[in-house]
Amino acid sequence: MSKDTLSIIDNRTGKAYEIPVSQGAINAMDLRQIKTSADDFGLMSYDPAFANTASCKSAITFIDGDKGILRYRGYPIEQLAERSSFLEVAYLIVKGELPERSHLEAFVSNIIHHTILHENIKQFIDGFHYDAHPMGILVSSVAALSTFYPDAKKIFDIASRKLQTHRLVAKMPTLAAFAYRHSVGMAYAYPDNDLSYTGNFLNMLFKKTELKYRPNPVLERALDILFILHADHEQNCSTNAMRSVGSSQVDPFSAVAAATAALYGPLHGGANEQAIRMLTEIGSVQNVPAYIKRVKAGEIRLQGFGHRVYKNYDPRAKIIKRIADEVFDVTGKNPLIDIARELERIALADDYFVAHRLYPNVDFYSGIIYQAMGFPLDMFPVLFAIGRTPGWIAQWQEMLLDPETRIARPRQIYIGAGPRDYVVPSR
Ligand code: CMC
Repeated sequence: MSKDTLSIIDNRTGKAYEIPVSQGAINAMDLRQIKTSADDFGLMSYDPAFANTASCKSAITFIDGDKGILRYRGYPIEQLAERSSFLEVAYLIVKGELPERSHLEAFVSNIIHHTILHENIKQFIDGFHYDAHPMGILVSSVAALSTFYPDAKKIFDIASRKLQTHRLVAKMPTLAAFAYRHSVGMAYAYPDNDLSYTGNFLNMLFKKTELKYRPNPVLERALDILFILHADHEQNCSTNAMRSVGSSQVDPFSAVAAATAALYGPLHGGANEQAIRMLTEIGSVQNVPAYIKRVKAGEIRLQGFGHRVYKNYDPRAKIIKRIADEVFDVTGKNPLIDIARELERIALADDYFVAHRLYPNVDFYSGIIYQAMGFPLDMFPVLFAIGRTPGWIAQWQEMLLDPETRIARPRQIYIGAGPRDYVVPSR
């Protein structure tokens, strides 16, 4: 008879233990009973990058990295990208179900009516140096929003959480657009409530002297899809930051600032910027084989390739690759796409990449589209942050309402000096 337990024999003591297995996992706290003596702390597991540790139970996003499957609340990413809109997906992710039409209309209306920022935020952004990275501005200004909304501290009040959700989803694009306009020295463009969420974002970014900005519908839809593809990705670095910082019961603006900071790093949200730099450095299709050689020699990494979870083609990369041509029909072709396609072709047939199970990830093609649409490289992680905001909020809320949640506080294995007495160092 098979049993849902794990039998462990501790060879240090000869003792046997039986530990329950539930949903493919043991509870790490069950290891604590395994001791060599009464005053032993108990066995811990060592997992520095959480590579094999489930930090939570979640009902939001499902990924099968071996098969290349991504679903939000059970819905395949391909269907959502094809048929849904970013705000509908945001509703789905945060609330758990697709909205009825009236609920979606109310949600969209709430978002539209929260896009305006307090005027003081403009002065705050004005204080940044002219060439400040927009991601640095976004991290700081979303944190600053917490000081404008002290009611956001009421994290266990459902009405307050709903209001902060509307504010965050609505104001992230406005902050992002203001950060961009500041970095290029243009007057801030205010939200236009007649436009869609994504159309209005394009308006706040690119409006010049025209009385009314009219977004190109192909680019508007492409960006909306890109936001959908970035909306959540289970326990990635920034989401882990959101949950970890949020577990201290800080307000959601501060927690989103922490998540945004995590996203700023080149191994996370900064990878699409790195991918463009890499393709630019390669320069032409002929140079691809020599570049691959350097990657295989361990000199450099292929940016936009590889993933902690996907050991197959990232399903988001497939969708992005498909919409690239629609965007290029409007913007003209980004010549880097040819280098990217050649890089992918050679890499996917190469033993090193096959053996390491390295495939293009979401960042491999997204930057090429962003660049064709006129976004400077600095803005790429900012776009990622806008898309990821509903995911952060949903994960934060799920964490708060989980009865098993306690403040995130990992253990360590101390490897430093033993006790020693202080002596004034000779100087
Ligand atoms: N190019 C060449 N070799 C690679 C790459 C790459 N992009 N990624 C991993 N490897 C190799 C690595 O050298 C190692 O080889 P070996 O076992 O022979 O030493 C093996 O694959 C495992 O690498 P790892 O660093 O242990 O894998 P990880 O799961 O810790 O890292 C990663 C995941 C995404 C940080 C990494 O693949 C990487 O640095 N990729 C490039 C940056 C990138 O595209 N990041 C975007 C991630 S997707 C968007 C997001 O979630 O934010």
